[in-house]
Amino acid sequence: MFESMRKDFPILHEQIHGKPLIYFDNAATTQKPESVLDAVHTFYTRYNANIHRGVHLFTERATQLYEQARATVAASIGADAKEIVFTKGTTESINFVASTWGKQYIHAGDEILITELEHHANLVPWQQLAREKNAFLRYIPVNSDGTLQLDRLADLVTPNTKLIALSHSSNTLGVHNDMKAVHAYAKQVGAALLVDAAQSAPHQRLDVRALDCDFLAFSGHKMLGPTGIGVLYIKHTLHERLEPYQYGGGMVFEVDLYRSQWRKAPHAFEAGTPPIAQAIGLAAAIEYLQEHVDVQTLQSHEAALCARIIDGLKMLKKVQLFGPLEQLRSQGHLVSFAIDGMHAHDVATYLSYQGICVRAGHQCAQPLARKLGIQAAVRASFYLYNTLAEVDLFLESLEHIIKTYG
Ligand SMILES: Cc1ncc(COP(=O)(O)O)c(C=O)c1O
Repeated sequence: MFESMRKDFPILHEQIHGKPLIYFDNAATTQKPESVLDAVHTFYTRYNANIHRGVHLFTERATQLYEQARATVAASIGADAKEIVFTKGTTESINFVASTWGKQYIHAGDEILITELEHHANLVPWQQLAREKNAFLRYIPVNSDGTLQLDRLADLVTPNTKLIALSHSSNTLGVHNDMKAVHAYAKQVGAALLVDAAQSAPHQRLDVRALDCDFLAFSGHKMLGPTGIGVLYIKHTLHERLEPYQYGGGMVFEVDLYRSQWRKAPHAFEAGTPPIAQAIGLAAAIEYLQEHVDVQTLQSHEAALCARIIDGLKMLKKVQLFGPLEQLRSQGHLVSFAIDGMHAHDVATYLSYQGICVRAGHQCAQPLARKLGIQAAVRASFYLYNTLAEVDLFLESLEHIIKTYG
């Protein structure tokens, strides 16, 4: 469907172990099209300068490109440019919220509600904050297929709930979470809502007004952009009530020996030299997606890849599939499984010798793996440039591996 676009991704022509690359590790990070590589290269070769700090032509150009990138990101999620803070990734975006809003507004006895399927990035910062503040960390439990027990919200959301933070889509099992149900409960008790969109931003059109969330976080590198750039959307109504995350140059308006004044958002939240080239690269990635990818077509393409791999894996002996398989067939972008008697790392290593990149392990979600009794899983995760032919080759290789080593 998007096969003609493969030529835009130079790395897809590489080989590993003498075999054509089949890259099924997109939930970890995606490959980059030429236009993103060019945007970064052009910045460094033609405009490189620090931003917001000078009057020479290069600094003006660099500042303009950086602020244009912010506007592009904002427009892509229905936000205002001043609501976009650049970070180095989802992890930093969530830590930002924990160490600013969390430190200011979470008090002893308050409750933070997350889910059992969170990536460690949306778990450990809240765990630490709860410990520091003598607050309580509560979990929305998961069913055996990884879907959330949303009927438990009625008990779990209380007047003490100050924050609900959850992933829009799970990096381990591909479960897509119903934000509407959660949002309704958050609003009922006046809790803030944080959406970890690391696994949804690459695959769907996000609209922060429709989600009506207070914070939303995602990473550029999982949606064709460079590493080292993340986004934190902060609803404008919170700006005045939020302390800066870090202090130093760039975020100050005036500095005296004993007091300083901050600039307005978003600059108050970006101390020091920001990831300029990376922000420009992310904007190029968003423009590439907007220009070449219809989101509905992308979702059907990824769902078709999921359906094919699920059907194929079901035919193989010793394979145990995880996750809500019916949901994945219609809106998935990744599939996780294990093979009886073989460690996931061994399976991933054997696949690597066949040119196939997959992820193996607990996928940075140890509590979920423990709850579901998964020691380690193999995860195949897709993006636009993957093909049904690649899935078929993957299935052939896996069958061979199971027959040979299983
Ligand atoms: C759901 C989810 N949240 C957070 C993260 C952390 O993202 P990053 O490593 O880019 O900060 C990931 C990365 O895999 C993820 O899948």
